[in-house]
Amino acid sequence: MKLCIMGTGYVGLVTGTCLADLGNEVICVSGDENKINLLKQGKVPIYEPDLNELVEKNVKENRLFFDTDSEKSIQESDIIFICKGTPSQPNGQVNLKYVEDAAIEIGRAIDDYKIIVNKSTVPIGSGDWVSMIINDEQEKLNKNVPFDVVSCPEFLREGSAIYDVFFTDRIVIGSSSKKAIETMKKLYEPIINQTFETDINPRPKTKVPLVVTDLTSAEMIKYAANSFLATKISFINEISSICEKVGADVTKVADGIGLDKRIGREFLDAGVGWGGSCFPKDLSAISQIAAEYGLSTQIINAVVQVNKQQRSNIIKKVQELLKIIKGKTIGVLGISFKPNTDDTRYAPAITIINNLIKLGARVKVYDPIVKDKPSDLSEKAIFCKDSYEVAENSHLLILATEWDEFIKLDFEKIKKLMSKNLIIDGRNVLDKENLKKIGFTYVGIGR
Ligand SMILES: NC(=O)c1ccc[n+]([C@@H]2O[C@H](COP(=O)([O-])OP(=O)(O)OC[C@H]3O[C@@H](n4cnc5c(N)ncnc54)[C@H](O)[C@@H]3O)[C@@H](O)[C@H]2O)c1
Repeated sequence: MKLCIMGTGYVGLVTGTCLADLGNEVICVSGDENKINLLKQGKVPIYEPDLNELVEKNVKENRLFFDTDSEKSIQESDIIFICKGTPSQPNGQVNLKYVEDAAIEIGRAIDDYKIIVNKSTVPIGSGDWVSMIINDEQEKLNKNVPFDVVSCPEFLREGSAIYDVFFTDRIVIGSSSKKAIETMKKLYEPIINQTFETDINPRPKTKVPLVVTDLTSAEMIKYAANSFLATKISFINEISSICEKVGADVTKVADGIGLDKRIGREFLDAGVGWGGSCFPKDLSAISQIAAEYGLSTQIINAVVQVNKQQRSNIIKKVQELLKIIKGKTIGVLGISFKPNTDDTRYAPAITIINNLIKLGARVKVYDPIVKDKPSDLSEKAIFCKDSYEVAENSHLLILATEWDEFIKLDFEKIKKLMSKNLIIDGRNVLDKENLKKIGFTYVGIGR
């Protein structure tokens, strides 16, 4: 099939590239000429494991194209995917401007039947709203080309995005049009039946479940999924604080409860709290949506509150260990909101670093991928070339993101470089006993 992808971020680029790899002809469109020129040369502007290689392969094999001309790309395609960013506005509501712009471009360009697929996470009812915009634009141009809107929410995780698209836990298709649903099923058939060829290992053998529903339910599934996942993390973080007081180990508690099939072990790792480009804005959006109907989201509000508290808890731990923060040097390992991504949006590390600097610390930082200072990170944060440079003369180290290379560090060497041997393992991933043996004062989360 011929596909047009509007939006070339984590979701757009990965979706477009994976669908091209399945044999479709895909044009990814962006108004950003520099970005499109880079992509045409095979240079991917984001960090996502294996994406460069897959883009290169599909460009070479003439299935994946990049263009700035949205009109031509829309007209040449059977299905148009909207994968634009939907960030939060200062009041917590979703900024739908980029989705609106895409709908306007589609309304102006369409000249025969198209399926419009919304992959962006959008407030409930946005599918109907996109239809309205397309119709309004058509009316201005005296045309009435038929189209259908489908909600096909995306569940990929940055850091394992390609794997998550090919081996997703489920595909959700929401629409009132039988024709559009059948076409979408055909498009996703190789993933649903796992019939495509791939070198990716390990390859799960099971077929992928398909949920076909109405537009509204599909939109709700995405918000409910992210709200529940954030709830699991805040829940275990709350439990971790109690563990600290009573002397229990939250990692064992999570293992113990996670073995219960009704609970499950995933997303029960206590730590510095959740962040990233999705959970904060999606929880804020669902609360706003509920408020529009006079409802209050008590559980979600508490989940957000616990998460804020979790970031402050790190500062409390630093105060307990150092007593005085002013004039101390603190090293922070990791900036991205999770490993294997360069995404720093709402990253816990940034809040922690900024707060330590406000309290008078000198903060040295290092991240394996994030090399440019994020705009919301204090100018005073000192970027280092590696973890050892961070450790040099630091009184305390905080592991904020669980990049694999931090787990494998030479802690004997780190100890010699530091002024004091204090370590806060913000993700409970380091070998506590080994660190203690080396001579560190180790503080984890809830253990
Ligand atoms: N990133 C994820 O892990 C993930 C997972 C599932 C769903 N989603 C959802 O998918 C959607 C896209 O997410 P993403 O992470 O790919 O977003 P992103 O911020 O990486 O990029 C989205 C794209 O939106 C467009 N865009 C952003 N700012 C713009 C601007 N100022 N002007 C014009 N265009 C602009 C660009 O094409 C950009 O590439 C969001 O609704 C998000 O909630 C994201």
